[in-house]
Amino acid sequence: MKKLKVAVMISGRGSNMGSLARAAMDPEYPVEIVLVLSNKPHAEGLDLAQQHGLPIRVVDQSAFDSRGEHELGITQALQEAGAELICMAGYMRILEDAFVNEWRGRLINIHPSLLPSFIGLETHARALERGVRIHGCSVHFVTNELDAGPIVAQAAVAVEPGDDKNSLAARVLEAEHELYPQALKLIADGKIRWTGDDSVSDNNATADDVAIFR
Ligand code: GAR
Repeated sequence: MKKLKVAVMISGRGSNMGSLARAAMDPEYPVEIVLVLSNKPHAEGLDLAQQHGLPIRVVDQSAFDSRGEHELGITQALQEAGAELICMAGYMRILEDAFVNEWRGRLINIHPSLLPSFIGLETHARALERGVRIHGCSVHFVTNELDAGPIVAQAAVAVEPGDDKNSLAARVLEAEHELYPQALKLIADGKIRWTGDDSVSDNNATADDVAIFR
């Protein structure tokens, strides 16, 4: 089976990267993880990646004068690894347009809310403050507008009475770990495709493929 070569970009814990790594251990899963890249030298997720036997690379942002130069360094590392698609998994730095344009259509992200609600940070606290009954997470293509690119798949998580931001975050994180490998497989199988004009087209993707209810 020809597998899609994927790099995962992290900044911290890396639990979503871990869920992708576990999925990729299945010989039937259509993805090979060719690199785990961190912008932070001490990201916990780097150890986890090594435990999975994955190649790691740090492109330390503090070693570069500007964000643009840092991201050129990232692109070089991704190209050297032969990455065909990039998964951002808790990469906590806003990307410059040049990087996004370079990887347009080949760059996806997981975000801890049901987009387009609650873009940005502190999504769980804001969802609770707003009193939503259903929260969740989304996998989307990355465009120049923050958290606004076309949505690949989403998982819905009910808000429970008595939830605080930590309990809600923990249940959404479990949903993220189910959603991300499923969404990535849809792209690798060619079921969801970037159309080139900031939208996606479905090619035989079913509702069960793109919407998870927990
Ligand atoms: C995840 O909840 C991810 O959705 C979120 O950071 C966490 C990373 O956890 N990403 C964002 O907020 C991006 N704006 P992880 O490092 O354990 O995967």
